[in-house]
Amino acid sequence: MRKFNSSILVILSVLIILFVVMRLFMIPPTFGEFGWYRGESVREIANQSHKFADTYRCFECHIKEYAYWEVGGHSTVECESCHGALKAHTINPEEYKGYGEFLSPNTYPSIQAFCLSCHSESTSKPESFPQVKVSHTKYWNCTTCHNPHYPEVER
Ligand code: HEC
Ligand code: HEC
Ligand code: HEC
Ligand code: HEC
Repeated sequence: MRKFNSSILVILSVLIILFVVMRLFMIPPTFGEFGWYRGESVREIANQSHKFADTYRCFECHIKEYAYWEVGGHSTVECESCHGALKAHTINPEEYKGYGEFLSPNTYPSIQAFCLSCHSESTSKPESFPQVKVSHTKYWNCTTCHNPHYPEVER
């Protein structure tokens, strides 16, 4: 019985020493600088470049879309909520064309799918939010009747 106990003690102390040594090598140097995480990660995230421009930047070159958008039913939806992060585009529109960005209409199978991603009828949405059944339009593109930058139908 005594023998058994002491061999367990030896194994335990070896494990503890191994743990302490491995811990020394495996914990990143800045861990715990601010809290229970790698301090360096804060600086890494802070150093990332901005991907979004700002809606007022679009005005410089897309005055027509902006002028409609500003007074229309989509004025609460930022340009980049529909067209994706476009900072690179505002700096160099020739190289970064402004379509194909994540979220942009071109990344959906159709304009219908794009509009319905926000407007399809659902009981989970507030009643005041404008919603349509998919059957609202079967054969027509949403943009045949609605200007995306001024969506209310003019009659
Ligand atoms: C410095 C001028 C400039 C700024 C600022 C700018 N754009 Fe553009 N944009 C252009 C030009 C030029 C084109 C046409 C590119 C081409 O097709 O060669 C374009 C094209 C686009 C297109 C694609 C049009 C198409 O034919 O499908 C979209 C969408 C777009 N811009 C959205 C935006 C948004 C949103 C912003 C603000 C975040 C913005 N742009 C800011 C100059 C600009
Ligand atoms: C609710 C979503 C939505 C918002 C918000 C939005 N757009 Fe668009 N935009 C679209 C769609 C959809 C198209 C494509 C229209 C088509 O293909 O018929 C488009 C097309 C464009 C085009 C290409 C030219 C054209 O008329 O086809 C430009 C440029 C553009 N948008 C700029 C902007 C700018 C600038 C803003 C903000 C002031 C903005 N958009 C806000 C959905 C949006
Ligand atoms: C990113 C989400 C989003 C997308 C995509 C989007 N919308 Fe909207 N739409 C909104 C919001 C938000 C409102 C404003 C709701 C409010 O004011 O209560 C709105 C309002 C509207 C209205 C009511 C305008 C009014 O005041 O009478 C129509 C019509 C509309 N959208 C059509 C479209 C069409 C067509 C498309 C596709 C080209 C589209 N929307 C794409 C979010 C979106
Ligand atoms: C044939 C023309 C036409 C097409 C195509 C069309 N709409 Fe409409 N839409 C209308 C008209 C007209 C109204 C206004 C109805 C009213 O005021 O009673 C409207 C109203 C809306 C509204 C506001 C509903 C509300 O509760 O205020 C939304 C959102 C909307 N449409 C989204 C879409 C979407 C998304 C598509 C594509 C899937 C689309 N529409 C295609 C004609 C059209």
